[in-house]
Amino acid sequence: MHVSLRQVQIFEAVARTLSYTRAAEELHLTQPAVFTQIKQLEGSVGMPLLERIGKRLHLTDAGREVLTTCCDMLGGLERLEMRLADMQGLKRGRLRVAMVTTAKYLVPRLLAEFCVRYPGIEASLTVTNREKLLARIANNEDDLAILGAPPEGMDVVATPIADNPLVVIARNDHALARRKQVPLARIAEEPFILREPGSGTRLATERHFAEHGLKLKVRMELGSNEAIKQAIAGGLGVSVLSQHTIALDGTGGLLQPLDVAGFPLQRKWYVAYPAGKHLSAVAEAFLAHLLGHQEGRESVPPAHE
Ligand code: PGA
Repeated sequence: MHVSLRQVQIFEAVARTLSYTRAAEELHLTQPAVFTQIKQLEGSVGMPLLERIGKRLHLTDAGREVLTTCCDMLGGLERLEMRLADMQGLKRGRLRVAMVTTAKYLVPRLLAEFCVRYPGIEASLTVTNREKLLARIANNEDDLAILGAPPEGMDVVATPIADNPLVVIARNDHALARRKQVPLARIAEEPFILREPGSGTRLATERHFAEHGLKLKVRMELGSNEAIKQAIAGGLGVSVLSQHTIALDGTGGLLQPLDVAGFPLQRKWYVAYPAGKHLSAVAEAFLAHLLGHQEGRESVPPAHE
């Protein structure tokens, strides 16, 4: 049976995503190229590996068998690559990091420093929200994951790397902008802009108000911190965001944290990986870099006034 490694990679991607289009996007190929390779693989195997029932693609029994072997082969190659990279020290190798969206104010800078220090290392950074990141940790998809609170009910190693204070943010001409120690109940009366479901910031915010028996008056849900900042600048309401988000403010200094009783909420950034995972030398070195940053510097950049 003649099967190329490329076909193995393509089949694994199609079988995992159950979509020629998504597999093509992931592998930076065209959809017809993916389709052709699958047809050739089916020709070599002598049996169909995928079947379309209605609109959905399904694996055949033979497809499931082939997928198991493909995953073993790709896993074996990855482990080999890791061992070879370890043998070469940090001269080359791969680093896969995933982080929650809000960590973008901290982590890319640290990763960039690391890449400048070790130019032979190929790094990738996936940005997603907390819920999707937890699924990635459960599937062991990355070397390291960075998130706003250790995952609950999952067997992971999680180490704090930096402070992540959450603050109430309003436009600087807001009626509460000059008040001291605004009660939380007063904030609950304001139109509130909330992150999307699955966001760690949202989870922490909702929990805090619920613990005080308060419900937010949600005016709008938005899927990004930057969009929320623009909505606040446009006068739509207030929000709770990481203080890091105003340190790099794209609204020309229109935003400011309010002085609210009980705020800032003290959170931390954590680096996490599944318990029992064998970290590569590169991942160990990046972990040390993250921890070194914690000892060496002020973790929260100064707020933009
Ligand atoms: P988020 O995560 O970007 O999903 O809101 C941030 C956090 O958990 O603090």
